[in-house]
Amino acid sequence: MKKITLLFLILFANINFSFAQKVKPNEKEMQWFADAKLGIFIHWGIYAVNGIDESWSFFNNYISYDDYMKQLSGFTANNYHPDEWAKLIKESGAKYAVLTAKHHDGVALWDAPYSVDVVKKTPAGSDLIAPFVKELRSNKLKVGLYFSLIDWSHPDYPVKTRTEKRYENDSIRWEKFVHDYTGQVEDLVKKYQPDLLWFDGDWEHTAQEWHARELRNRLKELKQGIIINSRLKGYGDYATPEQGIPVNRPKDKYWELCMTINDSWGYQPNDKNYKTANQIIRIFSDVISKGGNLLLDIGPKADGTIPQEQVQVLKELGRWTQKHKEAIYGTRAGLPAGYFYGPSTLSADSTVLYLFLPYKPVKNIVLRGVKNKINRIWVVGNGTKL
Ligand code: GLC
Repeated sequence: MKKITLLFLILFANINFSFAQKVKPNEKEMQWFADAKLGIFIHWGIYAVNGIDESWSFFNNYISYDDYMKQLSGFTANNYHPDEWAKLIKESGAKYAVLTAKHHDGVALWDAPYSVDVVKKTPAGSDLIAPFVKELRSNKLKVGLYFSLIDWSHPDYPVKTRTEKRYENDSIRWEKFVHDYTGQVEDLVKKYQPDLLWFDGDWEHTAQEWHARELRNRLKELKQGIIINSRLKGYGDYATPEQGIPVNRPKDKYWELCMTINDSWGYQPNDKNYKTANQIIRIFSDVISKGGNLLLDIGPKADGTIPQEQVQVLKELGRWTQKHKEAIYGTRAGLPAGYFYGPSTLSADSTVLYLFLPYKPVKNIVLRGVKNKINRIWVVGNGTKL
């Protein structure tokens, strides 16, 4: 019996991992994304006031919905300097950023239709997306916006918490919700013209219920070339593994690992479990070696300050990406496993192979199975010929 269960679990896991998008991405439109390699994810919302889990804290009943929403009154954005955010992102070596326009709690960072938003409901009192988008653009960074399909605050969304349902099987209310949520997404796209939309929370309903295909088509119509992540029930352009580097290259040609800088998506002062810049660099090299992007998440405080530990890591990461840029940006996946013990990338024209050595080699470096004639070997960052 045990064996059967195990077999079933393995099969199930395989099915999950081999999941690929239901639509084919447009290679030309994906170009900037494939070249970008590094993005910064920003989870900013009222959950930073108490420093608790974004949305999940009330959904899982760790705090009541009403107490969670009391955080609205503490969300000031007093020290929000989007110019400094954009400068820091640029300094880290990232080429794009993704900001949480609306998380599962339904609290929008802009004056969104049909929602609770920080403009009307918090001391911040203004659209927090517009100035950030402007600063990203002036720093030549691509603009990504995160949008949760789930909205546990919306009066027509079927569930409010893990234990509290609003309704079951009421297609009229559901369609009312779909009308509102798609209206919000369209509003986002019309207002900010993002280069990328990062959906989340698709697991609570089917593609058909979300009207995923129609939404994708509509968004591509509204903004030509807009890139959509996989969490629109597979109607996206690229896969989004989370928190762990895939062991094998994902089936989707384009993919992006999203990962927290400590153990939390949003700001949590008690979480001091920060990854070091060195760990992040190791992870990042592994990701680009497999042809993916890294979307590294930070969580600003409720007043808009980015915690010092996070600033530090981004700056250190920036020193490394700056020095090694030729081995990073615009490259393609490197050698398959077994040819070289470590990550590697390949220049877009396939003439240069970059080998990442996380240690100082004592003597020889072994590279297997490469038949090409090697013309030149040098150290990236200082040019020393070997
Ligand atoms: C998960 C979590 C969510 C977080 C997201 C980031 O889906 O539900 O809280 O925002 O991961 O990828």
